[in-house]
Amino acid sequence: MSFLHLFLGLISSLRVLCGTEYSIIILRFCQGMLVDRLICVSIFLCVDCLLCVYLGNILFNPRETMKVIVITGSTRGIGYGLADSFLDHDCAVIVSGRTQESVDAAMTRLGARHDRERIHGWPCDVCDYGQVQALWDAAQARFGSIGIWINNAGVGQSQTRIWEQVPDDARIIIATNVIGTVNGIMVAIPGMLQQGSGALYNMFGAGSDGFRIPGLALYSTSKRAVSYLTKALVREVRDLPLIVGAISPGMVITDLITNQYTDRPQDWERAKRIFNLIADRVETVTPWLAERILHNRKNGATISWLTPTRALGRFLLSPFRKRDIFS
Ligand SMILES: NC(=O)c1ccc[n+]([C@@H]2O[C@H](COP(=O)([O-])OP(=O)(O)OC[C@H]3O[C@@H](n4cnc5c(N)ncnc54)[C@H](OP(=O)(O)O)[C@@H]3O)[C@@H](O)[C@H]2O)c1
Repeated sequence: MSFLHLFLGLISSLRVLCGTEYSIIILRFCQGMLVDRLICVSIFLCVDCLLCVYLGNILFNPRETMKVIVITGSTRGIGYGLADSFLDHDCAVIVSGRTQESVDAAMTRLGARHDRERIHGWPCDVCDYGQVQALWDAAQARFGSIGIWINNAGVGQSQTRIWEQVPDDARIIIATNVIGTVNGIMVAIPGMLQQGSGALYNMFGAGSDGFRIPGLALYSTSKRAVSYLTKALVREVRDLPLIVGAISPGMVITDLITNQYTDRPQDWERAKRIFNLIADRVETVTPWLAERILHNRKNGATISWLTPTRALGRFLLSPFRKRDIFS
């Protein structure tokens, strides 16, 4: 709490305690310190304006009330970074991943940096509707009303052509990225309708815009489906007190990216050059995303980190500004 908040807090207590006498007390106080009546009145008006802004902030700025945020797949990578960033904004966060071990490890890391009372963990495989419902129930039981639900859990793919993919891996990509998102929607939207409010975000990725990337067809197909789902949902909630949006994080160095190269070290060295041009670290992107998500009031918004302008800027500046995001 800043000195200004403390000062305004004291003044507002005075206002409540003294009622109409409040302005007289302030004026008398100013007069005792200064001779000029005009200056006294100006000071009074300034203090009163600041007070109104302060009280308005408390009443209307949701960041002042604790927002409860559920993030699927938040034991590492972007989901974890978002959890960390939301905690920086005094939100309460429910961390989730497929196993109790990964959830516990994430909670320990977050607990070392933030107030443990605002962190809750719950294992949940998003492919299983029952587990997603249990995640909602656990979050609600712990913190009450859920403000934001982020369908973040996702898996990538090894770079191969469609027919060369291991069948079980193909199933997992579609199940996690598409069915997982559908399950999140089917649980969170009715829950939010019962609450009377809420915001849901889906995670876009390569392919969401229809752009085709060789070797990433299954992942891109799943993200194209997430994009379609999101746009359809935005229309479906149009007349409801809910917000649906998308998050487009750009390219972020996480396991999802690096795992593609585990058995191809020579390709990794080549890919690193591209990543140094275009990609970012989790801790660079997620504070920015979290801030935008908390401020968004628009149904249908896409919160996008790597806009075409930013990407172009990176390319144009690359001969003059060397980036090394791996050191
Ligand atoms: N990295 C990028 O450049 C990039 C770019 C655009 C979009 N995205 C999207 O951003 C999201 C997060 O990606 P990331 O890069 O942070 O990946 P990541 O580092 O591999 O993390 C994936 C997270 O999802 C969880 N997860 C995986 N399968 C799950 C399942 N079936 N149920 C519940 N949780 C599951 C993992 O937790 P456990 O292992 O503990 O289960 C982990 O917490 C994904 O939707 C991805 O498509 C990423």
